[in-house]
Amino acid sequence: MQENKSLVDPFGRKIEYVRLSVTDRCNLRCFYCLPKGYKDFDAPHDWLGIDEISRIVAAFGRLGVSRIRITGGEPLVRRDLPELVAKLNGLPGIEDLSLSTNAVHLARDADALKRAGIARINVSLDTLDARKFSDITSGGKLEKVLQGLMAAKRSGLSPIKINMVAMKGINDDEVEDMTDFCIDHGFTLRFIETMPVGDSGRKASEHYLDLSEVKERLRQRYVLTPGIMPGGGPARYMQVQGTDLRIGFITPLSQHFCETCNRVRLSVEGDLHLCLGKDHSVALRPLLREGISDEVLEQALVDALRLKPERHHFRESPYEVLRFMSKTGG
Ligand code: 5AD
Ligand code: SF4
Repeated sequence: MQENKSLVDPFGRKIEYVRLSVTDRCNLRCFYCLPKGYKDFDAPHDWLGIDEISRIVAAFGRLGVSRIRITGGEPLVRRDLPELVAKLNGLPGIEDLSLSTNAVHLARDADALKRAGIARINVSLDTLDARKFSDITSGGKLEKVLQGLMAAKRSGLSPIKINMVAMKGINDDEVEDMTDFCIDHGFTLRFIETMPVGDSGRKASEHYLDLSEVKERLRQRYVLTPGIMPGGGPARYMQVQGTDLRIGFITPLSQHFCETCNRVRLSVEGDLHLCLGKDHSVALRPLLREGISDEVLEQALVDALRLKPERHHFRESPYEVLRFMSKTGG
């Protein structure tokens, strides 16, 4: 039906992955993401409803998007999440539904989310030290996250990937402990470089750690061989010899991966963000609420791609992105 429409940007990149932020709220305040005490969230009347979200995702599915990652903020603070997942799960073209979470509420929701159609999850976890966890997240309880992880394992979500933002002077001393933890539990581990997104991200940049340093440290203790991991994201993987562990390195600063970018991001108030590291966006909510047809919606998505920047400039101009990370998810 739509042979002529496809999601290719001006630089020849095909978009097949959408990150769906279902709320900009969060029950933690990781200092690199949101300021302590931050409350200036989007108002509920501006949120897209389940029907609006699934209408946009359906249009993406018809245009060749096959992977959806649900993110936040913290997606589990949205109580209708399993209902939304179930709705997205049936949409034509959508083959892969994943979730990024801080796992605080995962013990409560893991089974329901698995049943609704989430296949695999990423969990943000920067430390295994309860006091440090509380410091980084401004009061979060590590115990909850660990319980959430174990519940996720029991409910059969797989793979479970741990995302650790590696920061000098904060958690760089835990690289080995986290590696052992992931070996013991059969999790995949990914290290992420801090990005200057929003004022909090910029403040955290003083702890920036080039992941090649982390890799060198790991090589002193483990034999690393090149590995692969399904998922469609930008991580470059190494296999830890003699174990099942794969470690991914996500290096937006030291080695950016913009030339293979296959994704766009939809915020909870319906703005389509074309790049995590730029402000280019298209407001879809007014179009939906004006009652546009599916065909016009698809054309709006195709047209939006003309705005996708070639790359971010985190290094050259770190003051570009004003919004906080919780608007679009990591
Ligand atoms: N730099 C890098 N990653 C970030 N995240 C949030 N803020 C930043 C930042 N400034 C990512 C983390 C976290 C996810 C929710 O968002 O990976 O796990
Ligand atoms: Fe919440 Fe994730 Fe931001 Fe931490 S990084 S405050 S868990 S949205």
